[in-house]
Amino acid sequence: MRKERVSSVSRRDFVKNMALGTAGALLLKQRHALGAAAAPGEPLRVGFIGVGGRGSHLLTQVLSIDGVEVIAICDINPGNLKRAQRMVEEKSGKPPDGIGDTPYDYRKLLARKDLDCVVIATPCYWHSTMYIDAIRAGKHFYGEKPLSITASELKAVNDVYKENPSVVVQIGFQWGADKARGDIIRKVHGGLIGELLEGRFHRYNGWDGHGGWYADRALSGDWMLEQAVHEFNLIWWVTQAHPVSCFATGRSGIIPGRNTTNYYHAILQYPEKLNNLVVHYGHGWIHVSGFPGEGLEADFIGAKGALNVMDAYVQLREAPAGGSARINGEGPRGETREHFLNFFECVRAGTPENANCGIANGTGGSIIGLMIRQSLEEKRVVTLEETLRDTRKPPVPPA
Ligand SMILES: NC(=O)c1ccc[n+]([C@@H]2O[C@H](COP(=O)([O-])OP(=O)(O)OC[C@H]3O[C@@H](n4cnc5c(N)ncnc54)[C@H](O)[C@@H]3O)[C@@H](O)[C@H]2O)c1
Repeated sequence: MRKERVSSVSRRDFVKNMALGTAGALLLKQRHALGAAAAPGEPLRVGFIGVGGRGSHLLTQVLSIDGVEVIAICDINPGNLKRAQRMVEEKSGKPPDGIGDTPYDYRKLLARKDLDCVVIATPCYWHSTMYIDAIRAGKHFYGEKPLSITASELKAVNDVYKENPSVVVQIGFQWGADKARGDIIRKVHGGLIGELLEGRFHRYNGWDGHGGWYADRALSGDWMLEQAVHEFNLIWWVTQAHPVSCFATGRSGIIPGRNTTNYYHAILQYPEKLNNLVVHYGHGWIHVSGFPGEGLEADFIGAKGALNVMDAYVQLREAPAGGSARINGEGPRGETREHFLNFFECVRAGTPENANCGIANGTGGSIIGLMIRQSLEEKRVVTLEETLRDTRKPPVPPA
């Protein structure tokens, strides 16, 4: 009995600490402990871990940025490794070092003192293990979403990060790099649309044809963690709160050759300060190409107006005297390249708190995905506390 009480208190602390983000005092103490990144005027030295589909796209983006050198790459697939080395050589004239004989070779790269930071774009089941290792090694990293596909590892990443808050972490939520979106969300936080009432979210994709680890829910975390976590980061960004409960229903087994969920609908409810907010999210891979409705919608309806998160504007119920009912977010639009520019700026300046999407975003996004997945598995309403109790680990091979 006592044991249960203690563990539920520590879960509460975990949620509270996640909401607080980085631990300020420790951050100040550690700010310079990692040693300076490249001196001003010197290029930043970057390593890559995982250069498959996404990793090569990220490599192209990084190679387009001045003042950055890719000097080492790790991938266990020799073909992907060679292709990425060639991409770097074509750009800089010098092939980067290549490793990847074993699944844990990436640790050699994390241990290198001549690397200022790394980019990690491996399959989802590797993320939390690699991110924990990177944080422990004091290596700044841009890591693909999701932060974790299990609750226990989400807690583990947060715990390790609390001890090492000077590591710059940029989770691959590239929509967080859009300044116009950031501006309109700040205005919504300031009360522009009044009390939040309804979140209307969906992403309807065409018939799912994925293979490999994407089609295996133990490896991908399932679609709510592999893909929808982008939207869940937006929901977290706007609400700045974790849901208290979730109900989801959906189906798998319709599309052959995969055990992932083919489509589902979820309802999220929020704690007291967002008492009247209900967020509904529909997600699937069964849409008929050419039929209307395909794609993404991410909106909030409030007491005084509505927010279109993707297009970064608010429509007010009543236009202010002499003004327009439509208010656009101000600032340049941004995506993956801008997300990297922000990351490299933070690495140079040693300012993890200025990263667009750090551990708090990664945590907020994963929590919603984990709650939805558990509700689908157990066919019932689940609470945040119940989701955080899950002790499963991602299926990485033994070290
Ligand atoms: N942000 C986005 O919009 C976006 C878009 C697509 C994919 N992603 C994410 O990017 C990540 C990678 O997806 P992908 O489509 O490139 O997958 P992929 O399978 O094409 O590539 C993964 C690469 O990682 C390598 N790898 C696997 N285990 C490794 C290990 N232990 N050490 C070193 N290398 C290892 C593989 O050999 C492969 O080259 C996933 O997490 C995915 O969710 C993000």
